[in-house]
Amino acid sequence: MLDETPRLRMEGISKSFGGVQALRGVDFEAVAGEVHAVCGENGAGKSTLMKILAGVLGGYEGRVLLEGRPVRFTGPREAEDAGIRIIHQELNLVPHLTVAANLFLGRERRKGLFLDDRAMEAAAERMFGELGTPIDPRARVGSLRIGDQQMVEIAKALLFDAAVLIMDEPTSALSDAEVARLFRVIADLRARGTTVLYISHKMNEVFTIADRVTVLRDGRLVARARREEVERAQVVRWMVGREIAAFEFEKSGELGPPLLELRGLTQRATGPGRPALSGIDLTLRAGEVLGVAGLLGAGRTELLEALFGAVPVASGEIRLKGQVVRFRSPRDAIRAGIALVTEDRKALGLFPDLTVRENITLVELRRLAGLGGVVRRGAERRAVETAIGRLGIKTDGPEAPVTSLSGGNQQKCVIARWLLTEPLVLLLDEPTRGIDVGAKAEIYALMRRLAGQGMGIVMTSSELPELLAVCDRIAVLCEGRLTAVLDRGEATEERIMEAATRFLDRASA
Ligand SMILES: Nc1ncnc2c1ncn2[C@@H]1O[C@H](COP(=O)(O)OP(=O)(O)OP(=O)(O)O)[C@@H](O)[C@H]1O
Ligand SMILES: [Mg+2]
Repeated sequence: MLDETPRLRMEGISKSFGGVQALRGVDFEAVAGEVHAVCGENGAGKSTLMKILAGVLGGYEGRVLLEGRPVRFTGPREAEDAGIRIIHQELNLVPHLTVAANLFLGRERRKGLFLDDRAMEAAAERMFGELGTPIDPRARVGSLRIGDQQMVEIAKALLFDAAVLIMDEPTSALSDAEVARLFRVIADLRARGTTVLYISHKMNEVFTIADRVTVLRDGRLVARARREEVERAQVVRWMVGREIAAFEFEKSGELGPPLLELRGLTQRATGPGRPALSGIDLTLRAGEVLGVAGLLGAGRTELLEALFGAVPVASGEIRLKGQVVRFRSPRDAIRAGIALVTEDRKALGLFPDLTVRENITLVELRRLAGLGGVVRRGAERRAVETAIGRLGIKTDGPEAPVTSLSGGNQQKCVIARWLLTEPLVLLLDEPTRGIDVGAKAEIYALMRRLAGQGMGIVMTSSELPELLAVCDRIAVLCEGRLTAVLDRGEATEERIMEAATRFLDRASA
């Protein structure tokens, strides 16, 4: 099939943003009916290449050919009319509009002069049926959990038959079951001849779904291979340009005294479809990294939010260093030494109008300030440079606008900010989502180092190997209840899954 005219060719694509050369002479091609993965570290140029193809970015060198014919789009609409659709890494939805309105934005169905809401809602319902997600087309997008928003973004691209469908990290907020359904949809599309370009940092996804893999590094094409002809480890080596050792840590001797204790923590549901927490007893000790596992909707995020004072606790108590605390707001929690890195970093964590430096030091200015509250520029600059170096944040410099960074590098800025505050307790919700393998290892190492200094860390992750690699203990939730707390020695993927599905099994049995 490779000697036919490929559906898509990109030749010698170069693109720079001011001083940053994002792509350097990249060649890319994909044929009809293939799933083609694009891999690379944060900042390698994946999204940039795809945005050029989708007409979102112009001002590049090189040529794009569709079915052998050169095209040069001046906007996303032209690309859409040519059959190219993109599911954006950074969700591109309008929060105050309904799901149906978002799906058909700019391409509304009409009946005479009027919008045909019925037809649009029916089409939306059919699409969610196909995706196996019961999302209400009339719900406001802003009220949906982030995984559902991602589903809306996916549905939006699927509603229109595309010849080339670009998926830029489509599964970052999806549950395993949702990923499985998405993969079935992708398999159908492939069978119908659609070209699917698939970006992911998750190697198991790439190796499940892709026919071919293209690897970028520092804006250059490094390699292209058929999946069955290449090993995972090889793809990772191409991506990072070196060998990555498996992350391992020495258990840091005795844990310190209890930092946070939950006794019978109970919380009412905060919204439709959001689980409540009931009767959680859990202790976090100084020097400990405590993992929180559970299926989507089990209450992981809710647990972190309750600890942070983001939602009122209905009953039970929280003790911080032995003292009962009742946070009325996140501000109280921050003051008490608790920091939360939220899952939805785009909405809650990142300040798009500010620079990299400002995003990193925002909550830290008080500590960096000297007498009279004047920020000591030297101290601030050193702190920012250290953070950039440690987490390998790829940027033009501290003064670059944070939106000029790639998706993964923006996330690192938010994480860096909270690491800098040196809290007593650090709560991390899916800290490594969208972050490449090399940087993940850096973040794990940093977490262990901070724990070694006596910090207590609670992290959630949907990737069990990640929890097993970094955590001293793993707490498992199922439907808002704590079903297991496993020590590092006894925790296995099977045991965690058993505890995570305990009540579900009973219900379906
Ligand atoms: N609008 C922009 N302005 C300035 N620089 C940019 C802009 N968009 C991207 N860049 C730079 O181009 C490079 C490639 O970014 P790109 O978003 O393509 O990376 P990526 O491979 O998608 O990474 P990630 O895995 O983190 O999403 C990065 O160094 C980034 O900082
Ligand atoms: Mg990207």
